[in-house]
Amino acid sequence: MVTVIFPAAGVGRRMGAGRNKALLELCGKPVLVRTLLRFSECDKVDDFIVAVGAEEVDAVVQMLSKVQGIKPFRVVAGGAERQYSVRNALEALSPDAEIVLVHDAARPLVTVKTIEAVVAEAWRSGAAIAAVRAKNTIKVVRGDGVVESTPERSKLWEVQTPQGFRRDILEEAYRRAASEEYLGTDDAALVERLGLSVRVVEGDDRNIKLTTPEDLWTAEMFLGRDALGVAKERVASAGADLGEMLGDLACKVSDAADAVTAKVREYKEKREGTK
Ligand code: CTP
Ligand code: MG
Repeated sequence: MVTVIFPAAGVGRRMGAGRNKALLELCGKPVLVRTLLRFSECDKVDDFIVAVGAEEVDAVVQMLSKVQGIKPFRVVAGGAERQYSVRNALEALSPDAEIVLVHDAARPLVTVKTIEAVVAEAWRSGAAIAAVRAKNTIKVVRGDGVVESTPERSKLWEVQTPQGFRRDILEEAYRRAASEEYLGTDDAALVERLGLSVRVVEGDDRNIKLTTPEDLWTAEMFLGRDALGVAKERVASAGADLGEMLGDLACKVSDAADAVTAKVREYKEKREGTK
């Protein structure tokens, strides 16, 4: 079984909306709902565990219960750091979970293709992360603002989620991090500390993490473009259907005209015969 953990217990300080950004509306639906619906489209994952603020648990259960087409889910209270939110969710895993994916609730634009690629690589090698090649040159800068070094860009990848792991590997990584009081910025970093290989699968540039208000506008634009694409396809296929219907109709009219002509001829012949 494949379970997806969604850390969604942040306060969204950089978004500046004064509330958890996972609960903000994006094109008419809360970000968290959009994220869970995307994963619900993927038949390679089975169920969800969502970590939200302790005081948000009841409201989120209510909200998600009303959404059609969402996979089975549980909601748990998160912690003061993302890593603690994931840890709390790990404690709620069912015994059947074999692969665990972790995905930021704040990435609603993830594609089913990326999810499938991470799940497949996690089954194959035990640890997989979605990432995209760095587009910009990245510098290591000292605290006093002076550049220390320039890592070779071709080796740099920007890491996203989902990140997927064999359950035992992720649990061991979290146990180790807790005992060593290590706080990482992603889940793979904890697994890397076990000395295990983590494989990169190519993600998607659109899979942005909604962090500042500008990211919301970008996401709205992507969703708007997708909706326009779907609308165009519908019009095109309705046009094709219409063409077929008109073709059928023309055949029927032509058959009917032939039948009428034949009847008229028959009638004329009969009349001439009786003369
Ligand atoms: N997250 C979490 N628990 C925390 C902090 C973050 O579950 N204590 C989640 C967020 O809800 C988000 C994801 O981790 O879905 C990525 O974190 P980030 O983008 O940093 O979100 P916030 O912490 O909410 O934002 P900010 O850092 O600007 O306050
Ligand atoms: Mg944060």
